[in-house]
Amino acid sequence: MKNLLALKPYLVRHRKTLALGIACVVATNFFAVAAPRFLGEAIDLMGREFTIGSILSKAALYLLFAALSGIALYLVRQLIIVTSRDIEYDLKNDYYAHLQTLSTSFYDQTGSGELISRGTNDLNAVRDFLGPGIMYSINTLFRLIFAIGAMIAISPSLTLLALLPAPLLSWAVYRTGVSIQNGSRRIQENYASITNLVQENISGIRIVRNYNRESVEVDRFEALNREYYDNNIVLTRIQAMFMASLTALTALSLIPVVWAGGLNVMQGTMSIGGIAQFMIYVTMLSWPMISIGWVTNIVQKAAAAQTRLREIFDTKPEVTDQAVRPGEGEERVPSGEIVFERVSFSYPSQPDKQVLKQISFSIEPGTKVAIVGATGSGKSTLVNLMARLYDPDEGRITIGGREIREIPLSSLRRGVGFVPQTNFLFSDTIRNNIDFGRGGSGGLDVIEASRIAMLYDDVVDFPEGFDTMLGEKGINLSGGQKQRACISRALCWNPPVLVLDDALSAVDTATEARIFDGLLEKLPDTTVVLISHRISTVRNCDRIIVLHDGAIAESGTHEELLENGKFYADLYTMQLLEEEISAIS
Ligand SMILES: Nc1ncnc2c1ncn2[C@@H]1O[C@H](COP(=O)(O)OP(=O)(O)OP(=O)(O)O)[C@@H](O)[C@H]1O
Ligand SMILES: [Mg+2]
Repeated sequence: MKNLLALKPYLVRHRKTLALGIACVVATNFFAVAAPRFLGEAIDLMGREFTIGSILSKAALYLLFAALSGIALYLVRQLIIVTSRDIEYDLKNDYYAHLQTLSTSFYDQTGSGELISRGTNDLNAVRDFLGPGIMYSINTLFRLIFAIGAMIAISPSLTLLALLPAPLLSWAVYRTGVSIQNGSRRIQENYASITNLVQENISGIRIVRNYNRESVEVDRFEALNREYYDNNIVLTRIQAMFMASLTALTALSLIPVVWAGGLNVMQGTMSIGGIAQFMIYVTMLSWPMISIGWVTNIVQKAAAAQTRLREIFDTKPEVTDQAVRPGEGEERVPSGEIVFERVSFSYPSQPDKQVLKQISFSIEPGTKVAIVGATGSGKSTLVNLMARLYDPDEGRITIGGREIREIPLSSLRRGVGFVPQTNFLFSDTIRNNIDFGRGGSGGLDVIEASRIAMLYDDVVDFPEGFDTMLGEKGINLSGGQKQRACISRALCWNPPVLVLDDALSAVDTATEARIFDGLLEKLPDTTVVLISHRISTVRNCDRIIVLHDGAIAESGTHEELLENGKFYADLYTMQLLEEEISAIS
């Protein structure tokens, strides 16, 4: 429940509209409770001398008050429900903007379906609280105040009788509330799991097909969906029981009122009109009683949802601009010198396993350096640290002479063109994927970039060239074309440092070497850090760093390393053998 208080700033932002909404709540209840008085008076008039005119005037007043109550209720909805939509809009934007700030390590550990479900289902539950939840609670409060006030004015003792079941009601509301909150939490969790499963299955549909997993996945979905269904049924049952018992309780409270009220009328202490008016108030109370249950339900659901949203909002980005000195220019992109000084790193999910151990090296601007090493030796991790996808646990990394923590993230990432090992293209045109909304700002244009990455000739053959749509609404590129599109994207800013993490693994050895040779030739001033498993690709680099089990095992030129006769030389011999074997076969 404490979590719901975190929504205060959003409510404060809309305080004027909300205050007006509350004023309308007061008005609608005032008119609604005042109206039956004219009905009571009309009934009392009937017992005496009356004229059609006097009855009609009471009826007109009744209608007027009922209409005013209706108009105020319309305004309440317009003001409060619309505000809840405005807050939902703000919350959604804030949620998405917050997701953009979170670090890579957070995404390592949280499923995307889970995040989607929190941003939709949970956020909707919170919106229900902010709109109907708040509206009905204030409405219930004023309905109770006005109606009970009017009842006391007619007969305090009868009011006491009518309210006798109230403590029983509070107890029932409290007990059911707990069950509803638990049920809602289970349902939201089920929903998140279902979203995750669907999201992963659709993204990985090819793997599912290739491994004939369709029916297994359908069964997994069915099991989760069944759990979701069962939990929903349980919750609906609790809610139905709750509503039915509340209605029964309010009906029961009419019995003593009719009995004692009838006695009062017979004794002449109350008029028939008075008792009629009183009975209207008792039935009028049944709605607030029911809505107490309903509001409790909304609040409990929102509390559960808000807890799940807070978990995301309270997650702080690990990689930040905190160490950047004020006034450090955004636009100053670092130059291409890279220095690692005794850098060590472990992934947050496995703090005991050191993935990089005391790594030190320096790369002169404009040089081309390759990193090789067995799978899992830490190559990707090392380059991820350069772009600050993670921060090292120990040691310093400087680019262009400045420690990277002190460079604004936006400048750093402009300065380090990064092609990660697992690439990703959006469902958009090839041009937009390469340019990525940067409008060639200060760098190369799409055509130049794609020429350097040797993608150009492939794309011009497509019917719509660079305007060809990719992904869901368009064609699919081949693995090698995808990789070259990703390289083009990194080149667009013409960054001083270009990192290529196994970026051409999907093309054949000869083409990879040819593309890289072209790339190195056309980018004489760019520092290139190249990860590849192929000697044919890395042999022409100025320097080759060999990683083994998270540490630098050796480094030097191709010739120097061959002379060394260690890891690199072994790798070379093995690949030569493989080539010979494949040439024979
Ligand atoms: N996000 C992560 N969380 C936890 N451990 C990770 C993560 N990414 C990588 N690792 C671990 O860190 C080690 C180094 O991984 P890394 O991806 O840097 O290897 P690599 O040299 O790039 O391998 P490859 O040649 O297969 O790409 C591996 O043992 C891997 O299991
Ligand atoms: Mg890797």
